[in-house]
Amino acid sequence: MNKTFYLETFGCQMNVVDSERIVALLIGIGYGQVDDPKSASLILLNTCSIRDKAVRKAYGHLGRFKPLKDKNPDLMIGMGGCIAQQEGGALLDEFPYLDLVFGTHNVHRLPELVQQVEENRVRCEETEFLDMETRLRLFPSRTGGDEVSRFVTVMQGCDNFCSYCVVPYVRGREISRPSREILEEVHALAGQGVKEVTLIGQNVNSYGTRQSGEASFAELLEQVNAVEGIERIRFTTSHPKDISPELISCFGRLEKLCKHLHLPVQSGSSNVLRAMNRGYTREHYLDLVARLRETCPDIRLTSDIIVGFPGETEEDFTATMTLLEQVRYAEIYSFIFSSRKGTAAADLPDETPAAVKQERFERMLQLQTEISRTTWEQDVGQVCSLLVEGESKLGDGQMFGRTTWNRIVNFPGTPDLVGQFVDVRITKSFRNSQLGELQG
Ligand code: SAH
Ligand code: SF4
Ligand code: F3S
Repeated sequence: MNKTFYLETFGCQMNVVDSERIVALLIGIGYGQVDDPKSASLILLNTCSIRDKAVRKAYGHLGRFKPLKDKNPDLMIGMGGCIAQQEGGALLDEFPYLDLVFGTHNVHRLPELVQQVEENRVRCEETEFLDMETRLRLFPSRTGGDEVSRFVTVMQGCDNFCSYCVVPYVRGREISRPSREILEEVHALAGQGVKEVTLIGQNVNSYGTRQSGEASFAELLEQVNAVEGIERIRFTTSHPKDISPELISCFGRLEKLCKHLHLPVQSGSSNVLRAMNRGYTREHYLDLVARLRETCPDIRLTSDIIVGFPGETEEDFTATMTLLEQVRYAEIYSFIFSSRKGTAAADLPDETPAAVKQERFERMLQLQTEISRTTWEQDVGQVCSLLVEGESKLGDGQMFGRTTWNRIVNFPGTPDLVGQFVDVRITKSFRNSQLGELQG
């Protein structure tokens, strides 16, 4: 029988990149990828544990595969990613139909693990963190493929220990990939036609600071900016405490750097920020925003906000609302606080009723929806440059690309435009995308 796998990916860019690696490794041992779990001999879930909802979703999906296993005992089911890292072997006890659990540092071991399960009919678990040296050797890298925009991993892990966050526990200590290797990968991608790279890591601004002699993040950006063939650079995620003046100046002088920065603030109240262990105040953050806008007046900012952190008062919440009004983000991603076991905030008294948190959350969404709408409406009638990425989900002869502000624009066009920059006049703005027409 042909060996086939079905893979589901949850969570952030780190998991997206790990999943790319999983696909390559499984193809390397003779598996073919399918998009229907019913026709797969191996089902894998690459999971996220950032909030309770993400965990419940992954377990929900896992449960859906149980009937398939009941029907076909030879089916192999595996779980990787951040839930696997956190729960380890306990998952095998809890889910008797699960065969394989692998952690965030063990993706490279997947071929051996899969073969072990296949040949020896055993269930296995590998969730050991690796030492720094081994991790340096194993940085995920991928060339090949036909996308015009690609993620490039520049660092892994996180040492910030924001009091609410599980990432440092499930991804391990922060480590930067040597800039030489990053540049090699970017050169190779440029050579195969990639036009845009997004440098990714949990906290890219502290790139290089833990390794002596390594480039700073601003220097790395400069080096990537010099790579011929690469036309656009993005990066994510940034931590406000590590944004240097040099990095701010990049937005004024690196022509390939897109005019968008995702700069999560989490809260507008300095008291809450202290309790979150974020390492900056409201004033410091607002000063960063002012300096960024001074350097690059049409930069657009996006952010993450947590509502209902333990002890958040109505006054603290109001401070977040006024910050949103002041900064006027193009977009925010907002979340109600979710207690994660093992994190410092899990032990804090949390007396705010869920209904109050929900009501704050909705009030905030209402305010931000209006701010986002006015931001994106400004573009209507303007001509924007897009990097065309592919055929639009709308079908119907429509293509899509992104503006420098990372907004998706759909427009009538032909597939030969993929990989090219085109000028479109924006004709309409929706909640999550825009419509445009090609300029001659
Ligand atoms: N390293 C990135 C992303 C972390 S996860 C950063 O520091 O910005 C993405 C977002 O999830 C965070 O910015 C935060 O807003 C949210 N988040 C993380 N843990 C959370 C929790 N326990 N409850 C609610 N939201 C959380
Ligand atoms: Fe989590 Fe904070 Fe690290 Fe981001 S910087 S991953 S929020 S601990
Ligand atoms: Fe989720 Fe793990 Fe990323 S917890 S947000 S997939 S690092």
